[in-house]
Amino acid sequence: MTLKIRVLVVDDDEVDCLSAKRTLTNSPLPVKFEIETAGTMAKGVDKLKKGRFDVAVFDLGLPDSNGLETVKGAVSAAGKIPVVVLTGWADDRTGISAIDLGATDYLVKGPAIENMLGRTLLYALERKKVELKLKEALAAKADLVNIVSHDLRIPLTAIKEGIDIVGSGEAGAVNAEQKEFLDLAKRNVERLTRLITDFLDFEKIDADKQQFNIQANNINELAMDVYKTMGPVAKQKGLDFRVELEEGLPKTEFDYDGITRVVTNLVSNALKFTASGSIVIRTRKGENGIKVAISDTGCGISKNDLGDLFKKYGQIKSTKVKDIEGTGLGLAISKLIIEHHKGKIWAESEPGKGTTFYFYLPS
Ligand SMILES: Nc1ncnc2c1ncn2[C@@H]1O[C@H](COP(=O)(O)OP(=O)(O)O)[C@@H](O)[C@H]1O
Ligand SMILES: [Mg+2]
Repeated sequence: MTLKIRVLVVDDDEVDCLSAKRTLTNSPLPVKFEIETAGTMAKGVDKLKKGRFDVAVFDLGLPDSNGLETVKGAVSAAGKIPVVVLTGWADDRTGISAIDLGATDYLVKGPAIENMLGRTLLYALERKKVELKLKEALAAKADLVNIVSHDLRIPLTAIKEGIDIVGSGEAGAVNAEQKEFLDLAKRNVERLTRLITDFLDFEKIDADKQQFNIQANNINELAMDVYKTMGPVAKQKGLDFRVELEEGLPKTEFDYDGITRVVTNLVSNALKFTASGSIVIRTRKGENGIKVAISDTGCGISKNDLGDLFKKYGQIKSTKVKDIEGTGLGLAISKLIIEHHKGKIWAESEPGKGTTFYFYLPS
């Protein structure tokens, strides 16, 4: 069965209309074009609104409308169907502006148009389909983010409170086996809470909705803060945790909380994947900014896996320790934060020997 495409051509020049009609009717493409024409903007919009077309072609010089005005009117009347505009000879600039306003494509009038019209319309149809699908997907994702942020968090809080009350013995004595199950439930509720928080944080930063407070800050002070916070965990694991900070580093503009989150993420990864040896936080003055490195003597990461490291949910199979704490979003969030500062983050590693994560903040 041949595909039927209903085309509305809006052009006041009858010769142009006829030639478009002829071109499409004789098109070698495996589709059957059915063409209707209109000679004014008003008539074109009227026909479009009756909704019997798959694609519309608008000339930009109509007696009752002109240029980008025509584009706006056509796109709004066309709704979900693609609009291709015809611009004057060698007027690509208008064509590009038309696309900015929502036209799907443009054709520059002239002898070459004959060969291109059919194919352009076909492509416009395909492109519009993809565009609508993408819009739907983005809307669905926005819905999901809303559901996650409101409707999933509230019941989780209630579950956690319930577990805490039962676990504390307030609701009656709890035996050792019951306690064990309650602890397991609690750890998993906490994990789910972390997953939700990280997921929402990622989406927020990714959608540029996170407010960053970028101002002059001292990176060494930040490194010391993280060192003090994470010190006890390192000590408990018997790791040699230290800082090597370059003295007299200039102040740099960054968001203190955001970069603290990055360094904390990197150090907590280092702690997680290092069984023995050392973890070091280093700061250095770079060429046009500051460079921070977090090194460990842990399990390392294979060359193959280095590329996927900063992807969402990028937990690597080869290093996958039984890790109830991880969400696989730490590095993806870190990358977003660093990129927001126009910096760079990367890793170097030797499997079995250890890993160093670097990031660079421009000054
Ligand atoms: N210092 C490290 N040494 C070895 N592997 C690491 C290190 N840091 C990160 N990884 C690998 O990268 C993965 C992704 O890290 P991340 O995004 O922080 O997620 P998570 O910590 O939640 O697993 C980790 O699961 C691990 O496989
Ligand atoms: Mg992590």
